[in-house]
Amino acid sequence: MSRNKDAVCAGICPCASLCPIGEALKVIGVKWKMRIVCTLGYPAKKMSLRESVMRKGVKADSRLSFGEVFFDGSFDKPLTKEAAGKLADALEAVRLAPSAVNKQPWRIVLSENLAHIYEKRNRRNDDGAWDIQIIDMGIALYHFELVLKELGVNGSPIRGSA
Ligand SMILES: Cc1cc2nc3c(=O)[nH]c(=O)nc-3n(C[C@H](O)[C@H](O)[C@H](O)COP(=O)(O)O)c2cc1C
Repeated sequence: MSRNKDAVCAGICPCASLCPIGEALKVIGVKWKMRIVCTLGYPAKKMSLRESVMRKGVKADSRLSFGEVFFDGSFDKPLTKEAAGKLADALEAVRLAPSAVNKQPWRIVLSENLAHIYEKRNRRNDDGAWDIQIIDMGIALYHFELVLKELGVNGSPIRGSA
């Protein structure tokens, strides 16, 4: 899924829809149970019409702004990068994370030395057994944790409820 021009890329496609591999499996009669496909290879020189239409449709090349997804103390106060201080880069890594249909469901409220992480529910589970947004949240959390580690910011997750 990476679009580096000449590099060999590895990508993970958590197939939700419009996935050519899923459709190919259907054609050869394999029941479609696969959820994640790992790919390795060179990106195509040109995007297919289908891919470019899909990317336009979900506004794949844009992200919500910092202040739309991160908050300072409560949801009515957008967070600025300055106020985020040493967490700014880790939050930026969350903001840029990929998500199904580019929904960007993560919302984070910084308050009293804690980052309260919420999921904005955009839609119901696809088929009752499969919640794609949970994957988005996992990817975003991984981005957050990775950059925090890189910055030497220590912390540990606490499970809470909304
Ligand atoms: C959980 C998940 C499921 C996704 N499912 C699909 C999919 O079925 N088909 C597809 O073309 N892209 C899929 N994507 C890619 C997203 O559409 C893409 O990440 C988003 O539009 C932002 O684009 P970018 O990652 O190129 O910045 C998926 C991404 C995630 C994280």
